[in-house]
Amino acid sequence: MWCLELGVSLVCGVWCLVFPTNLRQMHGTVPQKIARVVTDLVLHPQYIPRCVAHNVINGRTPLDLELPWFSYAAIDFLQKFLRPEMSVCEYGSGGSTLFFARRAKSVISIEDNPKWHSHVSQRLRQQGISNVQMVLCPFDFRNPAGFERSQYLEAIPDERFDVIVVDGSEEWEPVRPICFQKAEGRVKEGGIVVVDDSWRYPELRKSNRASRVRIFQSVGPCRPGVTSTDVFFY
Ligand SMILES: C[S@@+](CC[C@H](N)C(=O)[O-])C[C@H]1O[C@@H](n2cnc3c(N)ncnc32)[C@H](O)[C@@H]1O
Repeated sequence: MWCLELGVSLVCGVWCLVFPTNLRQMHGTVPQKIARVVTDLVLHPQYIPRCVAHNVINGRTPLDLELPWFSYAAIDFLQKFLRPEMSVCEYGSGGSTLFFARRAKSVISIEDNPKWHSHVSQRLRQQGISNVQMVLCPFDFRNPAGFERSQYLEAIPDERFDVIVVDGSEEWEPVRPICFQKAEGRVKEGGIVVVDDSWRYPELRKSNRASRVRIFQSVGPCRPGVTSTDVFFY
C-alpha cells in the first residue's frame, strides 16, 4: 500500500509542476485540491494509468482522445449505458461528440462558438463520422438577456432523446441550469440527462424530475483535478 501511495504522491507532484495554474477544479485551496486527487487515486487506483497517460505523458486534448471532458467514473458508466440504437443531443461539442457518435445511432450537437464548431466539424469529417448534426447557434453569454428565447436553447428538436448532455458554455452561470430544464422536457422514459461539472450546480440535485440521480466524482482526462458529472435517470 505504501508503494501505491508513494507512486500517487510522485504523480501528483509532477502533475502540479506541469499544471501549476490549472488547478481550479472544484472549490478549495490548492492543497485541498491536491489532497482530493490523491484520495481519489488511492480509492480508485484503476484510474491511475489513464490519468497519467491523459494528463502527464502526452499533450492530447479530449477531442484528440475522443473522450468527453467528464470524470472517468461517468465515462465508464456511459460506455456501459450507450447502445447503437440510441439518440443523443448535447449542448457543448468536443471529444464528447466523437465519443457519442461512435457508440450511438445519432448525435445532435449544439455549439455557440463558431471557431470550435468548425474545428469539431472538421475533425468529424477527417474521421469519416457522418451520424452527427452540428448545430451552430452563436450567443453572447456576456450579454445574456433573452437567453430563454435564444436559438441556442431552442435548438434541441421537439422530440425525445435517450441521452441529453448539458455541457455547454459556462461564461454565464445560469446557462447549464436553464439548459437542464429544457433537457428534462426532451428526455425519453428510460433515458438520462448528463450534467458535467455538476458540483457548480448543487440546486439541480434537489430540484429535478428524475427518478434518481447518480453523482460520478473522480479525476478525468486532461484535467488535473477531481470533478463531478451527474447523471439524472427518467
Ligand atoms: C466543456 S466544453 C464542452 C466539451 C464537450 N462536451 C466535451 O465533453 O468534449 C464547453 C464549451 O467550451 C468551448 N470550448 C472552447 N475551446 C474549447 C476546447 N479547446 N475544448 C473544448 N471546448 C472548448 C466550446 O464552445 C464548448 O461548447
